[in-house]
Amino acid sequence: MEEYIKRAQFISLGEEAGKNCPVFRKKFVISKPFESACLQITALGVYVAEINGKRVGDAVLTPGWTEYEKRLQYFTYDISGYLSSGNVIEIGLGDGWYASRMGIVGVYKGAYAEFPSLAAAISVRYTDGTETLIVTGTDWEAAKSGVLFSGIYDGERTDARIVPQYGEKIIVTEYGKDKLVPAEGEYIKETERISPKEILITPKGETVIDFGQNLTGYVEFTVTGNAGTKVTIGHAEVLDKYGNFYTENYRSAEARAEYTLKDGRQTYKPRYTFYGFRYIRLNGWPEKINADNFTAIVVHSDMKRAGWFECGHAKLNKLYENVIWGQRGNFLDVPTDCPQRDERLGWTGDAEVFCRTACLNYDTEKFFVKWLHDLSLAQKEDGMIPRVVPDVFRTNGRGEFGSAAWGDAATVCPYEIYLAYGNKEILAEMFPTMKKWVDYITGKSENYLWKNSPHFGDWLGLDAPAGSYKGSTSEELIATAYYFLSCGLLVKAGNVLGYGVSHYKELAEKIRKAFNAEYVRDGYRLSSDTQTAYVLAIHFGLVDEKEQFAKRLVELIEEAGDTLRTGFVGTPYILDALTETGHADKAYTLLLQEKFPSWLYSVNRGATTIWEHWDGVNEEGDMWSKDMNSFNHYAYGSVAQWMYRTVAGIKTDENQPGYKHIIISPIPNSKLGFVKCRLNTRSGQISSEWTAEQDGTVRYSFEIPQGVTATLIIGGKKESVGAGRYTRYGKI
Ligand code: BGC
Repeated sequence: MEEYIKRAQFISLGEEAGKNCPVFRKKFVISKPFESACLQITALGVYVAEINGKRVGDAVLTPGWTEYEKRLQYFTYDISGYLSSGNVIEIGLGDGWYASRMGIVGVYKGAYAEFPSLAAAISVRYTDGTETLIVTGTDWEAAKSGVLFSGIYDGERTDARIVPQYGEKIIVTEYGKDKLVPAEGEYIKETERISPKEILITPKGETVIDFGQNLTGYVEFTVTGNAGTKVTIGHAEVLDKYGNFYTENYRSAEARAEYTLKDGRQTYKPRYTFYGFRYIRLNGWPEKINADNFTAIVVHSDMKRAGWFECGHAKLNKLYENVIWGQRGNFLDVPTDCPQRDERLGWTGDAEVFCRTACLNYDTEKFFVKWLHDLSLAQKEDGMIPRVVPDVFRTNGRGEFGSAAWGDAATVCPYEIYLAYGNKEILAEMFPTMKKWVDYITGKSENYLWKNSPHFGDWLGLDAPAGSYKGSTSEELIATAYYFLSCGLLVKAGNVLGYGVSHYKELAEKIRKAFNAEYVRDGYRLSSDTQTAYVLAIHFGLVDEKEQFAKRLVELIEEAGDTLRTGFVGTPYILDALTETGHADKAYTLLLQEKFPSWLYSVNRGATTIWEHWDGVNEEGDMWSKDMNSFNHYAYGSVAQWMYRTVAGIKTDENQPGYKHIIISPIPNSKLGFVKCRLNTRSGQISSEWTAEQDGTVRYSFEIPQGVTATLIIGGKKESVGAGRYTRYGKI
């Protein structure tokens, strides 16, 4: 495809527009029959394009978010169906991620630049062989639009009375054309419309609409009133314990929609932003509130659903559903930590822990490939992987650091994509990045231990010392464990690709030895005597005789009343570490635990997504804190991988990735009653079901698609099978 867009100029209103979102237009005539017509368009910001009053395409928040200093995606649309003889293209431009204030608490406007710009090209090919090319430049017209302000964190203010007055002066901005790339991620789309569940008047007397689901997107409303009436919508994830609208956890994010009416009946939804919310608060509504006039529109990267899990335990089903919503809420072009407060960033650690689950819930190949390309570009000269990708903090020279378990997204995510989709290409593309990351750690290490570097530790672990966000597991131990993991993944990738990696194989062995010498104590104890430390040592294969270490892990869990103390680092693998060492029962106890802290604790408190904190709302109904309390953070949702892979028992085989050969080894538990699990893979649909009878008999049924071979492991017995349906019996 010819890249016409490279002949277009980036146009803007610059600072002149103030906070106002500009709109650009061009009129053009088509005087003879044409064969094809296409639009290529991009923005440093976000655009909405309309031709003859009709919105082009169904993607929103385009062109998404990339490592802007290195690359920018452009979109191509077939516009033949939009054209007539006289035409006008109008393109609205919002600040988006490029020019909004982005970062964390108290960040500045314009992490990349102060104002947005856009570039577009229309190519029309006529049947007589000639062609017209219309490209953005100073010959376009520009105006300030009725969108008076738009920001990712702060929302949108619109005055519907404003009719754009064309005639503003266009300025041309510079952006290297070689950085333009065709869009490669999943398009962000409006994927579901949800009606209000309830209209409430809170104890404070505020009017609040509850959509019954914490989600990411925006509200569309229809209103009838007089010109000049101003309606304001606030967004919140939760009500406080008194039932009042609670927004303190949004921190500085205003997350507010303001709309000034024109006369008559009108429908509004934002154009350039999104919100994370379940509730909205209405102010200034000019008529009787009718639920039919409000719709929450769910917005995210339009990935295809791939996995389904259902069992006879209602609360576990709800938890699973919450994991799905956590992914929907945070896979918005970039895997984000949360969608509501003044953050919404591509935190690498969060993606690293959730990646495996993500690939089971949805087909995330395209989504991750795009993000990994940005991760590669964001990597620093010395191999450091920044905390967030795209790197809005732009770490060079700012005293930033590559944290264990965060930077390791560089090795973990490509390998997971390889396992799930058999995608060798991404391994090959990412290999240099993986290697540079491991070398970076080596550079920071002393005698194969990753010492004396700052990390995020076992982020939000419950064994955190007072006043700290970090669990008490030794940061060096975690860092060295991840050094070993990443080095091992590099070796695996090298083996798949046929590269010589013997140096790294030896290195991994040296790290393992050093780990044992430094952190292992007599009696199968670790110097850092925490749940997370044992989880990593066991699950990453750092220690011999892991069953012995597991005894201490079980003790620590029991000392904690059969509850977790783990944070971002220990939680994703704790059930695996238990299962691998013969403690699947204990894993089930944790999974089905309802008292605080546990996964089901949040379900009992009415959660509809996964919380950032085990105690987001504590047992007294109070918020654990104002400043770090997201109710839509997918990290702890990483438990769903255990439901697919252990409860239902469907596992990939590293030697035949992409589910060409699978291992099916469910571990049933009578408390679940039954399980039905389905996975749509690149090799076809796999299903695994089981039902536990009163007498302890378990009836299993499996479906293996054409072209796939499977090893069934039931009650320790192995069996190799090909495509087909199978029924087997066993005991709990
Ligand atoms: C984010 C996390 C992230 C962490 C790292 C937080 O502010 O919300 O999810 O991984 O910072 O420290």
